[in-house]
Amino acid sequence: MTATEEPRSFVRGMRESGNGLLLRVSVIAAIGGLLFGYDTGVISGALLFIKTDLHAGTFEQQAIVSVLLLGAVLGAVISGYLADKISRRRTKVISGVVYVVGALGCAFSINAGMLIGFRFLLGLSVGTASFVSPLYIAEMSPPRVRGGLVSFNQLAITSGILLAYVVDFLLKDVPGNWRWMLGVAAIPGAVLAIGMLTVPHTPRWLMMTGQRDRARKTLEALREGDEDADVDQEIEDIEEANRKEGATSVRDLVAPKIRPLMVIGLSLALFQQLVGINTVIYYAPTILADTGLTSSSSITQTVFVGITNVVFTVVAVLLLDKVGRRKLLLTGVAGLTVALGVLAAYFWSPTLQQQAPYLALGGLLLYIASFAVGLGPVFWLMISEIFPTGIRSKAMSVSTVVNWGANFVVAATFLSLSTAITRQGTFVLYAVMSIVAFLVFATKVPETQGRSLEQIQAEVTETEGSR
Ligand code: BGC
Repeated sequence: MTATEEPRSFVRGMRESGNGLLLRVSVIAAIGGLLFGYDTGVISGALLFIKTDLHAGTFEQQAIVSVLLLGAVLGAVISGYLADKISRRRTKVISGVVYVVGALGCAFSINAGMLIGFRFLLGLSVGTASFVSPLYIAEMSPPRVRGGLVSFNQLAITSGILLAYVVDFLLKDVPGNWRWMLGVAAIPGAVLAIGMLTVPHTPRWLMMTGQRDRARKTLEALREGDEDADVDQEIEDIEEANRKEGATSVRDLVAPKIRPLMVIGLSLALFQQLVGINTVIYYAPTILADTGLTSSSSITQTVFVGITNVVFTVVAVLLLDKVGRRKLLLTGVAGLTVALGVLAAYFWSPTLQQQAPYLALGGLLLYIASFAVGLGPVFWLMISEIFPTGIRSKAMSVSTVVNWGANFVVAATFLSLSTAITRQGTFVLYAVMSIVAFLVFATKVPETQGRSLEQIQAEVTETEGSR
C-alpha cells in the first residue's frame, strides 16, 4: 500500500496533480452544494412576500419552510440505496432534474398547498445532493488534495447561501419577486444534471460493480500528469480493500467493525447541528434585530455573516490538506464555544448591550468563522473518508439523515427555547453542546489527511479493533 503523503498546501498539491479533469469533475459535482445552500438561504426572504401573496397562515408558512427538511431526510434515505445501485453519477443527474422540476413548480405555485408539495420535492433533491456530492468527489480525488476538493462542496453550500441573501435583497422591490427568487434555482439544477452527464463514474464504484477495466481507464485519465501517481497500485489497493471487506449489506452498519465508525460519523452529524449553526443561518436578522437594529441594517449585517462564511470556508479548503482535519476541527469548535459565550454574555448584560452594541455582530462573526473552518466542512469530508467503499454510501446516507433530522429539531425549537429559557440561556445550551462536542471529537475522531481511502479503512478498523 502507498505510504502516507507529506502534507502540502492545496494549491501546490493541485499543481502537482497537474490535471484539469480532476478540477472539472469536482467543480461540477460541487454544484450539488450550491443547490443545498441556495435553498437554505432563500426562503426567509421569499417568505415575507409569499405569506401575503398566497394568504399563507402561520401553519402554512412553517410547513413551506420545514417540509424541505423532511424531504431532505427522505431523499438521503433513498439515495443511500440509489448511489450503490445505479451509481453516484446517475443519482446526481436525477437529483439535478428533480431540482429543476421542484424549483419551477415552486415558482408557478398558485396556492400554499402546491408550494408545500414542490418544496418537499426540492427537499428530496437537496437531501440527495448533500451527501452524494462529497461522496463522488472523495472517490475521484488523490489523497494529497482530497480535503480541499471535497470541501468545494461546503464552499458551494456557503456561496449558495450568500447568493440567496443577495438575490433576496436585489429582488425585494420587484413585482412577483418570490417566484423569481425560487425559480432561478432551476438554472444551477440544470447545470448540475447536464454537467454530471459529461463526467465519468468514480473508479471505486466501477470496481465495486466489477468493471475493472473502466475503473483503470478513469483512474489513468484522472491521474494523468501526476508524477507521483501509481495507477496499478491504486487499483490493487481498492481491489484488496474490497476483497477484505467482502459483500456488505445494511445490517453491516451495526457490525462490530463498522460500529465505531458509525459513532464517529453520527457524532459529527449530530453536533454539527446541535451547536446551533442554523439558528444563525436562518435567524441572523432576528437575532440582530433583537439588539435594537432596524430591519434594514440587520439584513445588511446578515450579508456580512454570509460573506464571512464563504471567506473562512476558502481558508478551510486551503488548509485542510496541510494542517489536517483534526486541528481545524478542534480549533473551530473551541472558537464556537467562545463565540457562544460572548453572545450569551451580551444578551444577559444590559450594560454590555448599551456600551458594546457591536459585540453581538462580533460574536456572530466569530461563531460563523469558527464553524466555517472546522465543523462545517469537516463533517461532510470525514463521512466521505472513514467508511469502507461497500458500505460508504449507506453509512453516509444514515449520517446525513441524522444531520437533517437534527437540523429540523434545532430550527423548530429555537424560537420557543428563546422564550422558555431566554436567548442567553439558549446560547449557553449550545455552548455546552460545543464543549461536549470538543471532548467527543478529541477522543474519537482520527486524522485522515494524506492517506488513501483504503489506508484510512485499514487504519481505523485496526485501531478500533484493538481497543
Ligand atoms: C451544514 C448546514 C449549514 C451550512 C452552513 C453545512 O455544512 O450542514 O446545515 O446550513 O453548513 O454553512
